[in-house]
Amino acid sequence: MTFTVAIDGPAAAGKGTLSRAVAAHFGFAHLDTGALYRAVGVKGGDPVEAARSLAPEDLARDDLRTLEAGQAASRVAVIPEVRQALLEFQRAFARRAGGAVLDGRDIGTVICPEAEVKLFVTASPEVRAHRRWLEVGGDEGKVLAEVRERDARDMNRADAPLKPAADAVILDTSALSIEEAVARAITLIAAARG
Ligand code: C5P
Repeated sequence: MTFTVAIDGPAAAGKGTLSRAVAAHFGFAHLDTGALYRAVGVKGGDPVEAARSLAPEDLARDDLRTLEAGQAASRVAVIPEVRQALLEFQRAFARRAGGAVLDGRDIGTVICPEAEVKLFVTASPEVRAHRRWLEVGGDEGKVLAEVRERDARDMNRADAPLKPAADAVILDTSALSIEEAVARAITLIAAARG
């Protein structure tokens, strides 16, 4: 059985937590596609070469979740050859037996337009920055500026810009607890599985 859940949305909208919870609930495999771009961004050297030669140890680095890695990821993510190099791995993951959840920016629009369920998870920039600040600490104003900068770059790039697929369900988590957001996602997915 193949069954793909595509979860897209801007930085720090809660996609990761939601995706992990949904994958655990249904027993699906989960791929955090942002980690691929983060790993390319922090690897250094030629980003296209880094994307083509990405290895499991690159994804096991412990500095992938930093603000700097997020910025580096969004800079390499505008390069079409980098996106192309990461495409087949993501598509194959999506169609693996047993079901898969992929979270990112272009899963419902480019990677898996045929996904059985597409969610676009969002929240206001202030709410997202606050959540990210709880994770990384430091100056909250700087975290908000970083979130806005990354949103602008992700939404305005020419190749696979961040936007909801026409048939995506929008889940605004600004006023939802993680439990409420997970419950809504589970209801939608259970309905689609029939
Ligand atoms: O989701 P995360 O914050 O880890 O993603 C880091 C960056 O990687 C994003 O800001 C975006 O530029 C890029 N990305 C992307 N397409 C994806 C996932 C992430 O362009 N599917």
